[in-house]
Amino acid sequence: MSDFSHRLIAWQKLHGRHDLPWQNTTDPYAIWVSEIMLQQTQVAAVMGYYSKFMRRFPSIESLASASQDEVLQYWSGLGYYSRARNLHHAAMTIMSEHGGSFPQDFKAIQALSGIGRSTAAAIVSFAFKEAQAILDGNVKRVLARHFLIEGWPGLPRVESQLWQLAQSLMPAEDVVAYTQGLMDLGATLCTRSKPKCAQCPLSVSCQGLLQQRVQDLPALKPRKAIPTKQVTMLIFCYEDKILLEKRPANGIWGGLWSFPEGHDNLADNVSMLNHFGVTAQAGMRLPKLTHTFTHFKLDISPQTFRVIKPNAKLNSSSSRWLSLDEAIDWAIPAPIRKILQSLQKAVTL
Ligand code: ADE
Repeated sequence: MSDFSHRLIAWQKLHGRHDLPWQNTTDPYAIWVSEIMLQQTQVAAVMGYYSKFMRRFPSIESLASASQDEVLQYWSGLGYYSRARNLHHAAMTIMSEHGGSFPQDFKAIQALSGIGRSTAAAIVSFAFKEAQAILDGNVKRVLARHFLIEGWPGLPRVESQLWQLAQSLMPAEDVVAYTQGLMDLGATLCTRSKPKCAQCPLSVSCQGLLQQRVQDLPALKPRKAIPTKQVTMLIFCYEDKILLEKRPANGIWGGLWSFPEGHDNLADNVSMLNHFGVTAQAGMRLPKLTHTFTHFKLDISPQTFRVIKPNAKLNSSSSRWLSLDEAIDWAIPAPIRKILQSLQKAVTL
């Protein structure tokens, strides 16, 4: 075993995390759900979601037989909703193609929706103690610093170099402590800013530290400026209810519920009102919000409308009149929840 792996394992056993809700289990389903939630999301944000999700969907079967709407409801606010759609889809695949048991084969696991090589490796490491290397964003940072790997890790050349390193370091024994150690080190010591090198078990051999390059490794993605899109959200209020619509399966917030959208000028919104077949009066404008996605920013201008005559057709499988309390627990994205909360405050003031 390399010194790197040996020291990491010893450190994990003494100083790593041992009591996270998805540790101390070998159930591949419980581990799978945690690994998907933890993609691009910090442990602190995942905790509450994870326990509620596992209480409602304790088994692959219970997840597979739920509606997509309900799965999204339990994901509501976590972001990157394709993760939830893929998880649900993969649960159904496990029911139909694997007799309801989580597959054990590393390649078969990677054939499931939403499970890439690193996530599959984390699952087989934790559930089956199989020695497969992980390489998520945190691990890329640890390796790029320790072995002084130049270049943005998303470049195929750099990424394949990192995979080779990750594989060569993977020990055959103590697989769980090693894999968890890499995750723990990246999350707690080898952080992007203000890394705690003085406490790091790998500092003696860290090339990045020895050559004072820790701060500029790994190299950042060459960034193009991302565009900003403007949207007006039309908040139709009728009696004590507001109107939500289910978004198309593809595109941002696919399958989630949101307000109907118009353009950022009221004249256009008047024609939108005709489109919805409701008679309404413009009400107040709420403060603008900005939400950043991976590829663009969205400037949201919420505008309320007092509905005088609602369109009966608007209560269907893709549009609903809901009270604020009902809407807040619906499968909605985080900015919509924020708007609903500010409406709740406005109503109770
Ligand atoms: N990030 C990804 N997987 C994790 C895990 N199992 N524990 C803590 N952080 C993680």
